[in-house]
Amino acid sequence: MQQIGQGNIAIIASASNHIRNRDVEFPFRQDSDFYYLTGFNEADSLAVFIPGREQGEYILFCREFDQKKALWEGAHAGLEGATEHYEADDSFPIDDMDEILPGMLENKSKVFYPMGRDGELDHQILEWITHLRKQSRSGVNVPGELVSLEHFLHEMRLFKSVEELKLMRKAAEVSCIAHKRVMQQCKPGLYEYQIEAEIVHEFMSEGLRYVAYPSIVAGGKNACVLHYLDNKDKLKKGDLLLIDAGAECDHYAADITRTFPVSGKFSLAQKQLYQLVLDAQYAAIEQIKPGLAWNKAHDASVKVLTIGLVELGLLKGRVSTLIKNEKYKQFYMHRIGHWLGMDVHDVGDYKLDNEWRLLESGMVLTIEPGLYIPEDCESVDVKWRGIGIRIEDDVLVTKQGYEVLTGAVPKEIDEIESLMQATYAA
Ligand code: GLY
Ligand code: MN
Ligand code: MN
Repeated sequence: MQQIGQGNIAIIASASNHIRNRDVEFPFRQDSDFYYLTGFNEADSLAVFIPGREQGEYILFCREFDQKKALWEGAHAGLEGATEHYEADDSFPIDDMDEILPGMLENKSKVFYPMGRDGELDHQILEWITHLRKQSRSGVNVPGELVSLEHFLHEMRLFKSVEELKLMRKAAEVSCIAHKRVMQQCKPGLYEYQIEAEIVHEFMSEGLRYVAYPSIVAGGKNACVLHYLDNKDKLKKGDLLLIDAGAECDHYAADITRTFPVSGKFSLAQKQLYQLVLDAQYAAIEQIKPGLAWNKAHDASVKVLTIGLVELGLLKGRVSTLIKNEKYKQFYMHRIGHWLGMDVHDVGDYKLDNEWRLLESGMVLTIEPGLYIPEDCESVDVKWRGIGIRIEDDVLVTKQGYEVLTGAVPKEIDEIESLMQATYAA
């Protein structure tokens, strides 16, 4: 409200339901910005904020309560629920939006909204303004400025409150349990989708119904496909398994990757590449501290990986030249990580005034270096080909430095091997 300022208005729409096929819908997922501001988990809703409005500053448009709808589809708040349970000062039927909104825009200077994201809302706002303009001869002032709400909102979302961190810790905790569990269950002959099923089973059993993103369960060379989603192949003895999976807790994500041997024991070549990725991850995590620039972690990972790739013979030449010419990119083609929050690739600027921004406490990010050696990479020894490794943790920037939220899943080679061996022995 303070950032919108008196005399202005902000408008934000909920997500809509989407058809999966014919009359079957995808599970509804609320728009993260809308949920951040309202906690309201229904489609067909619109929130309006008008600082200083006497009849109420926070207005929620939503579906009216409908007995028949409640019978078929279940609970929905209705107009009374919107004010009683969601702290809206005032509520109106969503069907009346076109009649009511132009009046709310009257004599406002700026309209804040998520500009250019939802074509329908963009269109509606212009329609309401056009409608209002027609009355301008009767002395009504029409808003003169349209402002992106996201700029303000996303900066707020970048810094997590204690309440938000509680949800993120829960998402992380449950995701760790699931990763650890499948590490213990994995054996040659299982299919990737069976591992995925175990992960989802664990999330749901712990009360977290939704994944934060589709799980990647990639055995052997499938791990070299960065967004592998087929999860359809049989796991083979001697291969590594890369799992990138995270649960969502009340709209907050966890995002964890672990890579481990299908049969519980790393080969020498796998061990060498794995240790290199792990060293790069530790080096990157050490760069997480308030006041350090966001790209330092990435640069640290590039340095460790390039040195290691030269030592192992996958790259040839001077380390500094290889880094300058980005030669590591054929094996490490993504960045070190991303902001994490309600969206797995969360909102917030990475650069301010064209400079990498400095880390501040309350930010949460992932640190996820990887190496992916294509199966047909003729420039390297056969023993390296078809190996894909990523290690990903979620890291909170604290006042003193960092806290790894997802440390409960083993990632040291001996820890992984002994956890897996213990299971085989049992
Ligand atoms: N799971 C998506 C990512 O790691 O960025
Ligand atoms: Mn991930
Ligand atoms: Mn990630």
